[in-house]
Amino acid sequence: MNTATVTSDRVIDVEYEQPACPTRHAWARVPVEPTPSQRAELKDRIRRLLKERNAVMVSHYYVHPDLQDLAVETGGIVSDSLEMARFGRDHPATTLVVSGVRFMGETAKILSPEKTVLMPDLDANCSLDLGCPIDAFGAFCDAHPDRTVVVYANTSAAVKARADWLVTSSCALDIVRALKDKGHKILWAPDKHLGGYIQRETGADMLMWNGSCIVHDEFKALELEALKKDHPGAKVLVHPESPAEVVALADAVGSTSAILKAAREMDASEFIVATDKGMMHMLRQQNPGKVFIEAPTAGNSATCKSCAHCPWMAMNGLAGVASVLETGLNQIHVDAALIDRARVPIDRMLAFTAAHKAGWDAGALVPDIGAA
Ligand code: 13P
Ligand code: SF4
Repeated sequence: MNTATVTSDRVIDVEYEQPACPTRHAWARVPVEPTPSQRAELKDRIRRLLKERNAVMVSHYYVHPDLQDLAVETGGIVSDSLEMARFGRDHPATTLVVSGVRFMGETAKILSPEKTVLMPDLDANCSLDLGCPIDAFGAFCDAHPDRTVVVYANTSAAVKARADWLVTSSCALDIVRALKDKGHKILWAPDKHLGGYIQRETGADMLMWNGSCIVHDEFKALELEALKKDHPGAKVLVHPESPAEVVALADAVGSTSAILKAAREMDASEFIVATDKGMMHMLRQQNPGKVFIEAPTAGNSATCKSCAHCPWMAMNGLAGVASVLETGLNQIHVDAALIDRARVPIDRMLAFTAAHKAGWDAGALVPDIGAA
């Protein structure tokens, strides 16, 4: 293992190292894995600090298993990005510790400006967010004023502030279908693969931004077909940020929570999973008798067959959580004027999904085009 260390400029007592396989990202860093006694000590400190600070942990399925388990154990949540947003908004704690990537912390802050939102590493970003800068996106929107702007949650607060609707992968299909039914033409950003999937499923008129997730973009259809032949009984579970040829091989397509649901409910004992390998922890925990195989991200000649782990999600660790709770550093700040505007599409999404879940006519929340 490469033992070169760097230290975060914001959280001084977290020691990082380069990932064991640095692959393409010279900038990637992961917190040094604690020893068993350090891990126990860090967890005790975090349990105590959560109580002292009236704080709760909100973790994504892709972060280190320690951060998933501790969130659940201490009354927080591990979930997909939609539920993270809802949980953070509704929980009475005054501090949210968001283990995930930057847009998740910003969404939490936009929904709860009065709460303190802390993140273990503020450099944890997302290629979709980075690939959709507000200046270029604003110009794209200005050039197409006849279109309803629908953006994926994986975007900055400024991009959300330009949107009419926000979606996550767990509600994008329903919301776009409802918009199409009401006559809307859509401007979609930033993920071209998720957008392409939604377009194929709904037939909506969608003008796409050209963004992608550097993790899901790597899944390979040819190698997946070969793997399926080696495991003929296996069901294939795919996150829709993956390329169309990979989605075409899926038995179930959906958000991280939809993938978990499919694994629980499908009648199979083996699954090939095309999403970040952080998901394997919860998949195995919830399905002890079932076998989960990582979908391939590399060709047959490669020494490593799958490398599907988000380099930004990997920046989160126990030491970071303990440190930010102790120091109050790594707070998420969003400009108040931006919060007011960015909240509009997020609230629409949350109202739509709540109505949908309750079995009401969520489409009634979507204006007829011309009446907007
Ligand atoms: P989910 O909303 O499905 O959890 O996805 C978030 C994400 O960043 C996937 O790469
Ligand atoms: Fe962004 Fe992809 Fe990482 Fe998800 S896995 S946070 S979409 S880069």
